[in-house]
Amino acid sequence: MTFQHIKDQDQAYILPTYGRVDAALVKGRNARAWDVDGKEYIDFTAGIGVNALGYSDPEWVQAVAGQAGAIQHLCNYYYSPENTALAQELSQASGMAKAFFCNSGAEANECAVKIARKYGEKRGAYKIVTLNNSFHGRTLTTLAATGQEGFHKDFLPLTEGFLYAEAGDLEGIRALLDGSVCAVMLEMVQGEGGVIPMDEEFVKGLAQLCGEKDVLLLIDEVQTGIGRTGSFYAYQGYGVKPDVVTTAKGLAGGLPMGACLVSERLGDILKPGMQGSTFGGNPVASAGARVVVRRVSDPAFLQSVAEKGACFRKKLEAMPQVEYVRGRGLMIGVKLKEKDAHEVLVQCAKQGLLILTAKELVRFLPPLTITQEDIDQGLAIFQRVLGA
Ligand SMILES: Cc1ncc(COP(=O)(O)O)c(C=O)c1O
Repeated sequence: MTFQHIKDQDQAYILPTYGRVDAALVKGRNARAWDVDGKEYIDFTAGIGVNALGYSDPEWVQAVAGQAGAIQHLCNYYYSPENTALAQELSQASGMAKAFFCNSGAEANECAVKIARKYGEKRGAYKIVTLNNSFHGRTLTTLAATGQEGFHKDFLPLTEGFLYAEAGDLEGIRALLDGSVCAVMLEMVQGEGGVIPMDEEFVKGLAQLCGEKDVLLLIDEVQTGIGRTGSFYAYQGYGVKPDVVTTAKGLAGGLPMGACLVSERLGDILKPGMQGSTFGGNPVASAGARVVVRRVSDPAFLQSVAEKGACFRKKLEAMPQVEYVRGRGLMIGVKLKEKDAHEVLVQCAKQGLLILTAKELVRFLPPLTITQEDIDQGLAIFQRVLGA
């Protein structure tokens, strides 16, 4: 099988929704991957923040394969011990009370929107405030929640009832919170928007404002969650207590799984029949997620993410071609002084380093288990591409 054959098949049979780079990956171990021609890469992407434990972690593989051989799927009419155990472990790690399981970040956010609407239903409050420059998914409702005009324009009309505010503008949000609003939704670090961390005072003020106005605080942890920022969930680093948290990406370490977590008082808001998903809570994904949650929620593991992230950012800041670096933990955005981020991404792949972009920034979301040696080798390639 040649790379060209794969590329031709892709172009012939797959809708061209992704601007792909010329590499077809067939094998991976932690933060290293190999393409179909045997070329080796250092991976600073983790599949866009999904492979929390890197590629094919042995313990994760054993749990997933073992569960696939025991029972791979069952219908949600019946109890699944892998899934119930995962729900308890997630509750312990997050401080949230209960979970609804689904298969992606967008679905988790759809569920959060339904919960918010149900919460406001009796008093006619159905609107949700989100932030300009946010990203919440690709379904019509989560596109509407996404505060970026560019994502909306080809698919109008979207689900109605979303209002947009500026990050940091607490008074602007207060002015929007009339009786028609049931929730405010935001990311702690805007990922797709360009790796922009929210200000701590703003987040604390917003949590207080939501409490005062009886408006739910929904935190989208799809990209920031599962240890990515050095806390199990990023809101834990901000010291706030949300009503609803959405999570996906890293949750099952590379299998499709999302969840919408709710606080104690919302534990019974959705009644039987109000929400469902054929694959939601799948036992194979649950078995993988249990390994991820157990390993990542260990305080020593989270500490290592914070330390590796700090060191990673410091080394980037020392590069003369870098204008600034921002992010938290191993969620890192880099603005380059001159070079175009996408062009750098293409050149890095040629040189054996896989990276991402977010708007005009280069973005790094390496596996949380990456070694210091792989960070250093990857950064050496990055520096070479920028011009030593
Ligand atoms: C913050 C955030 N929310 C939601 C999503 C959508 O997740 P998914 O692609 O799993 O539907 C993403 C994806 O990048 C995201 O970064």
